[in-house]
Amino acid sequence: MIKLKPVTTLEDVQLVVQLAKEIWTEHYTSIIGAQQVHYMLTNLQSEEAILNDLKQGKIYNLIESNQLLTGYIGYELMHDELFLSKLYLKEDERGKGTGYFLINQLKAIAQKDKKRAIVLTVNKNNHASIAAYKKFGFILLKEQLVDIGDGYVMDDYVFRYPLST
Ligand SMILES: CC(C)(COP(=O)(O)OP(=O)(O)OC[C@H]1O[C@@H](n2cnc3c(N)ncnc32)[C@H](O)[C@@H]1OP(=O)(O)O)[C@@H](O)C(=O)NCCC(=O)NCCS
Repeated sequence: MIKLKPVTTLEDVQLVVQLAKEIWTEHYTSIIGAQQVHYMLTNLQSEEAILNDLKQGKIYNLIESNQLLTGYIGYELMHDELFLSKLYLKEDERGKGTGYFLINQLKAIAQKDKKRAIVLTVNKNNHASIAAYKKFGFILLKEQLVDIGDGYVMDDYVFRYPLST
């Protein structure tokens, strides 16, 4: 059974920091290199950065599968859309349908709030996740290059899942 647990306490935030370290290091080192992984973890998924996200109204959930912590999601309810900024499962949780379950939960949240779409960005070389997003029904909207400082960029595709309102 899969459960979503809202991140509210400092202890929850620390669990997200641990999960990010484990998942990003394992998954992104071959895609963007160890230095950029370290830079992004330090700047985007530190305790301080996540607490700041929460203050700004961004939502994080821990994912539990059969009572084990298996990943986390992060999203924001924008004016017209739900922006899904984080969807990360531990390696041994992938390919078991958990992604489908989470996307369906997010669709329900977005629809309840009358959003027109779920939007996300994914690194152009994150081929496995791009394949999964296409299976979920996301459609490629555009390319996006974002400067994240210190000479690093996020070279992404933007994908959109349209919702019927
Ligand atoms: C991307 C991610 C969330 C997908 O969740 P998941 O639980 O692995 O996906 P599911 O098991 O629900 O599979 C969904 C569909 O995508 C397909 N899929 C999943 N991984 C795939 C892969 N590596 N290659 C090709 N297809 C894949 C599945 O086969 C399934 O399609 P099917 O129903 O036709 O079989 C998860 O794999 C993940 O956390 N990856 C690493 C972190 C990451 O890159 N996150 C995205 C950041 S933008």
